[in-house]
Formats: sequence, structure tokens, C-alpha cells
Amino acid sequence: MTAEQLPRLEAYLGERYPQFTTGVREAVSRAPERFGDIAEMYLQWLLQARGENGLFEAVDAFVQFTTDVNLAQARYEADGKYEYQSFAEVNDIHYSQDSQMYGYLWGIYLTNFLWAHHLEICLFFKDRFLSRIDDAGAMIEIAPGHGGWGAWALHELPEATLRGFDISPTSIRIASSVMEAAGMESRASYVQKDAMELAEVDAESADAGISSFLIEHLEQPQRLFDVIHHLLKPGGVFFVTGALTAAQIDHIYEFHKESELVAMAENSGLRVLETLSTNPARTLPRARFLPRSMALLVQKPVSIG
Ligand SMILES: C[S@@+](CC[C@H](N)C(=O)[O-])C[C@H]1O[C@@H](n2cnc3c(N)ncnc32)[C@H](O)[C@@H]1O
Repeated sequence: MTAEQLPRLEAYLGERYPQFTTGVREAVSRAPERFGDIAEMYLQWLLQARGENGLFEAVDAFVQFTTDVNLAQARYEADGKYEYQSFAEVNDIHYSQDSQMYGYLWGIYLTNFLWAHHLEICLFFKDRFLSRIDDAGAMIEIAPGHGGWGAWALHELPEATLRGFDISPTSIRIASSVMEAAGMESRASYVQKDAMELAEVDAESADAGISSFLIEHLEQPQRLFDVIHHLLKPGGVFFVTGALTAAQIDHIYEFHKESELVAMAENSGLRVLETLSTNPARTLPRARFLPRSMALLVQKPVSIG
């Protein structure tokens, strides 16, 4: 492994954006024993994919993304609804815009461990989801974005393979570069595709899968669980995350209660094995909406008898 990257990130953040160091301290304090390993894994891939300056540029993107999210949440508090409701609009102004998506996806890549409540989801991913999967499994990732989750899965499961599908060409480029940086490109492939068209992919072709922070981007989120049910082999498990009352430029479906996600999974015939709901430690003063991130572990039941 090359020199440690976390001290470089912390030094740059502290010097350039000191107001953001509180959030990072919160993340460290949620898992002091494990934060460093997770951060270093992600940062080594970032270094390999983007080179020395890429780390600083990704930190700039993280700060921009976090600031945009906070502004979107303040507008949501004022308006009482998300800014956009249609997929076509968001696709036009956002998913198809390469320069915008590039910074956005690398910014999100760093939120996985720099936002304390997302670090909690990382622990759930590793401890509750990856620990269950057969090493040689065929995995599917729906909306990989930056590809970090899938890379982590293949890193832990050295015989597994992964097929990823995302609507954004920028995602396909970044996720492929992260897999290559991690030296696992021979076990992964990415195709540009709308998640709503995955019913065309072979039924029961996945042992396991990941769909993180896609569901709130869909006009008809129920269809994501239908697709997961279609893709999974009986007994297979999927890791799904979603945002509730948490605004972002591309969040169009407003979830208010954790039970809404659970009910949707069940309506598609999936069993909900475990859930986790997390929230940031600090919110806007007198906020009426608590932004939350939820993770679910769902399973396609094996038919009995
Ligand atoms: C917030 S990012 C999530 C990235 C990553 N999965 C994560 O958890 O950090 C949302 C991703 O969903 C993708 N996306 C949005 N709508 C989609 C659709 N209908 N089909 C496939 N991908 C979609 C976007 O291009 C973007 O990469």
C-alpha cells in the first residue's frame, strides 16, 4: 500500500475548510476503532484512480456537495416539498451532465465515511450484509454511482463478480475507474441502463446485490423492489438504502416514515431481514424535517413445500 492518505485529507480539510472538521470528528467518534481502515481503503482507491491532486479535488467536491445538500434542506424546510418531482427534469439537468456529475459522485464517495451517519451505514453493510454472502456469488449493483460499495464487496469477497447498471455515463466511467484502481476490473462490468428496465435482465441471476441511495430518485420506487425480486435467486439478499425527508437536487420521491420502505419491500414479495435508520447529529435550528438515511437488508424467500 502507498503512503497513508487520511492524514493528507485531514490536513487539507483542516487548513482549507476548518468548519468541516467537526463533522469528521463526529464520524471518527462513531467508530474510533474502524474509521481509519474504512477511510484508508476508499482513499487508496481514490489515489490510484485520480492521482495525487485527485484527493484534494475530491475534498473540494465533498465540501461543495455537503453545502448543496444543506442549502437544499433549507429550501425544503421553507417550501415543504422537494424542488423537483420528475425524473425527466432531473435526468436533463443533472444525470446527463458529465462535469456536474463528476464532482457530485466523487463528493458522495467521500460522504460514505466522512458523514457520521453514513459511516454507521458502512458498518451495517460490512457486518450485517457482506458477512452473509457466499464468497463466489454473482452480485448486481443498481445505480453504483461512484462504485465504492461494489468495490468494497468484491474486496471482501475475492471470488465474487459484479454487474452494475446506472443511468449516468459519468457513473459508468467513475465506477469502472474505481474497480480498476482496486485491481478488480476483471470481476466487474458496468452498463449504462435505467434501473426501471432491469426486468429485461435474466430473472433469478443474482445471489446478492446492492442498491444504495437510488430509491428516492425514482418516480415509482415500488418498481425498484419489484426489480430486486425479479433479479434475486430464492434465498438471495440485497442491501438497499434510501433517504427520508432529506432534500437533494435529484431526490424526487419523499419518504416520511421508515415503515414506507419496509412496506414497499414486502409488497414486492421480499422479506425484510434487518433495518437501520440513521440521522446527522446536527440539523437546522427548529427543523420540521429530520433528514434520515435508512439501510435495509431484504431477502427473496425460498418457497416452502
Ligand atoms: C445519490 S447517487 C448514489 C450513488 C451510490 N450508489 C451511493 O450510494 O453513494 C444516485 C445514483 O443513481 C443513479 N440513478 C438515478 N436514477 C437512475 C435510474 N432510473 N436508473 C439507474 N440509475 C439511476 C444516478 O446516476 C446516481 O449515480
